[in-house]
Amino acid sequence: MKVLARETWGSRVGFVAAAIGSAVGLGNIWMFPMRAGLYGGAAFLIPYLVLLFAVGVVALTVEWTLGRATKGGPIEAFEKTLPGGKYLGILVNVTILMIFAFYSLVLGWVIRYFIASLSGELTRIEPDKFFNALAFSREALLWLFVVIALTIAIVAMGVQRGIERANKIMMPLLFVLLIVLAVRSVTLPNAYEGLKFYLLPDLSKIASGKTWMIALSQMFFSLSVLGNTMVVYGSYLREEDDIPLSAIATAFGDTAVAVTAGFIVFPAVFSFGLEPTAGPGLVFVTLPMVFQKMPGGMIFSALFFLLLIFAGLSSTVSMLEVYVDSAITKLKISRKNASVLLGLLTFLVGAPSALYPAYFDWLINISTVYVGPLGALIAALALIKLGVDRAYEELQKGALIKVPELWKPWVKFLYPIVIVVIYISQFLLG
Ligand code: PHE
Ligand code: NA
Repeated sequence: MKVLARETWGSRVGFVAAAIGSAVGLGNIWMFPMRAGLYGGAAFLIPYLVLLFAVGVVALTVEWTLGRATKGGPIEAFEKTLPGGKYLGILVNVTILMIFAFYSLVLGWVIRYFIASLSGELTRIEPDKFFNALAFSREALLWLFVVIALTIAIVAMGVQRGIERANKIMMPLLFVLLIVLAVRSVTLPNAYEGLKFYLLPDLSKIASGKTWMIALSQMFFSLSVLGNTMVVYGSYLREEDDIPLSAIATAFGDTAVAVTAGFIVFPAVFSFGLEPTAGPGLVFVTLPMVFQKMPGGMIFSALFFLLLIFAGLSSTVSMLEVYVDSAITKLKISRKNASVLLGLLTFLVGAPSALYPAYFDWLINISTVYVGPLGALIAALALIKLGVDRAYEELQKGALIKVPELWKPWVKFLYPIVIVVIYISQFLLG
């Protein structure tokens, strides 16, 4: 029997496009403003940026290096390095399945909003009523299914190309559109209050362990570094691909989109007299209000939600890819069968979230807050077991810049310690 060689990326740019495609998604535009709103605006933004510099960029280099060095997804990578690695690998596979499940519900809402923009319905409705009727309903279940079916179709083709190419055009467009919306939002009456909330920290809140924990899990989620997706994406890297520069580009692009989303949402929230703590509905209620106030608003709206669909799909593809790859390499199932079967399994896990908000919240918290950061920690431990000297060599292959040697002690001590300390502090500090 012929053993198929592991797939690889087509080009350096293709890899960066796929990495940014995975990173940029609903995590930036929906979840970041939602969490920043819940955890104090600037009091959230500042810990977020601190953690991004201290651990975010390093986290990307850790997972890609681990993937390239072990030439495998998380199960393979952890099996080769850690005791009980197989089960740790299964754990991060389950985590990403749970993420895909709740993420599909939200992306389903986006599809519905896209259609409502095209038809002009969105000009006539009251956004909060529209959202409340849609969010947890039978109709939402239908859109959730559509999202999973689309993702299955892309992953089953095994073509990174289509999505890579789409991303190269879509991501810049999305960003331009975000800036246009941010300008509209900060020029709304009373936008100033929103900017104050977003940029001036309430220092008493920054000391809260919970805020740092949520910022940490948000950052890992946003960069897709939970010990699964980026390990698999790293395993498709060739020797000549540049890990350090790609990490910087991905972290920068991802953060720029999230921060800009905040500049759209908070001025609008205060301008329309809404509460920044509104939770999941925040973006789905405020943004339509901004669109309704813009000349040609429905065109912008349709374009915005369309781009968000693409940004979201390039993320869901990178989620399903994790356990499809595991099934292909470990269970020897064909890519097509694995995509369909595992996609349907995800639908079963996700379906109740379309009907029960409490289950939806539970999925989010377990997968992104309580287990997600542990996935990043496991990947770090795996790399440490591999040896930081060897890892550093791997990291340097194909790299244009020389990463400071400080990377080694950073990865070996500081990085895991920061994760553990923050993880524990949420229980101690509340
Ligand atoms: N980073 C993606 C986002 O911000 C979500 C994601 C998480 C994708 C984990 C893959 C893995 O939307
Ligand atoms: Na992101």
